[in-house]
Amino acid sequence: MITWLKVFSSEKQAIEHLQHGVPRLCILNGRRICLVRINHSFYAVQDACTHNGESLSKGSVNHLGEIICPWHNYCFNLQTGREMLNRSAELKVYPVKCHADGLYVGIF
Ligand code: FES
Repeated sequence: MITWLKVFSSEKQAIEHLQHGVPRLCILNGRRICLVRINHSFYAVQDACTHNGESLSKGSVNHLGEIICPWHNYCFNLQTGREMLNRSAELKVYPVKCHADGLYVGIF
C-alpha cells in the first residue's frame, strides 16, 4: 500500500527548495530519501547507495539524468534505479506526483 506524503505545498515551492540537478536529503516516515529536480521533473530514490551505503544526496546529477554516488561514482538512473553498468543492485524508486495543492512522494 502506498502512503502519499506531502513534501511541498506547491510545485513553485518545490522548485524554490530543490535546485535543478542538486540532490537533497529528505526524511519521510523515518526513511532517508533523496529528492532530485531536473527542470520540471521530480524524482525520489532511496538515499543509501546500494554499493556501500553512501548518501546519494551528497552526490551529483549528470547530463543523462543519472545520480552519481560521491564515493565510487556509480551512476543510477533516477527513473528505474538501475546502476548504468549493473555494478550494484537497483535503488528503490519512490513515485512522485505534483498536484495543484502540492508535491507528494509515495512511500511503500
Ligand atoms: S558507496 Fe556508492 S558507489 Fe560505492
